[in-house]
Amino acid sequence: MDREALKKMSAEAALEQIKDGMILGMGSGSTVMHVIKLVGQRIKNEDMAIMAVPTSYDTAQLCISSNIPLTTLDEHPSLDLAIDGADEVDPNLNLVKGGGAALTREKIVGSAARLFMILVDESKLVKKLGEKSHLPFEVLPFAITPVIHRLQDFGKPQLRMSAKKLGPIVTDNGNFIVDLHHLEITNYSEMEKQLNNIPGVIENGLFVNMVDLVYVGSEKGVKILTKI
Ligand code: 5RP
Repeated sequence: MDREALKKMSAEAALEQIKDGMILGMGSGSTVMHVIKLVGQRIKNEDMAIMAVPTSYDTAQLCISSNIPLTTLDEHPSLDLAIDGADEVDPNLNLVKGGGAALTREKIVGSAARLFMILVDESKLVKKLGEKSHLPFEVLPFAITPVIHRLQDFGKPQLRMSAKKLGPIVTDNGNFIVDLHHLEITNYSEMEKQLNNIPGVIENGLFVNMVDLVYVGSEKGVKILTKI
């Protein structure tokens, strides 16, 4: 089975967590795209009253075309359930996120939810964060050079460049993304705070002690990981 099929499998299984009347936080990325389409079908077939706070422009657009009503954190500062993907998941359900450059809104939305659920295919499981992925940062453009200098103490920072536009990619919040390669992540929560303490860093992609449930699409079926 290819990775896309495994992602879809985890999205199908995760639907069991979504109940009528829920206010959802909707993450970003290709795995969440499967969920959005499936939730849209359920709203239509079962006449469910569901609303979603989107974490990116892409997610908002797909929610609109799937007939999922949008709402905001101003209207619903507390969410029933946030659903998202991840770039890495460790055995304690800590994450690296930000492959789609939506990490800041994803962290805000995930932290506003009573239940934070992550959907991945099995290739995202790691023993230690940083094993496969670099660590993304959202950075204020005004501070990009000093932030890159400071991040050189931790690894090899690289400004993320756009694929189909000249120059760096710009996030939905108007900022740049720096990917930190070769980072040795030791104490996750200390490091998350230390990195966010660099002036100009808006947020980093370490999600520590936030997640309640992970649905993992694997060749053997969907495994559900819960916080130990
Ligand atoms: C976006 C993210 C995504 O959730 C992460 O990159 C996983 O994406 P995909 O589901 O496409 O593998 O953090 O900022």
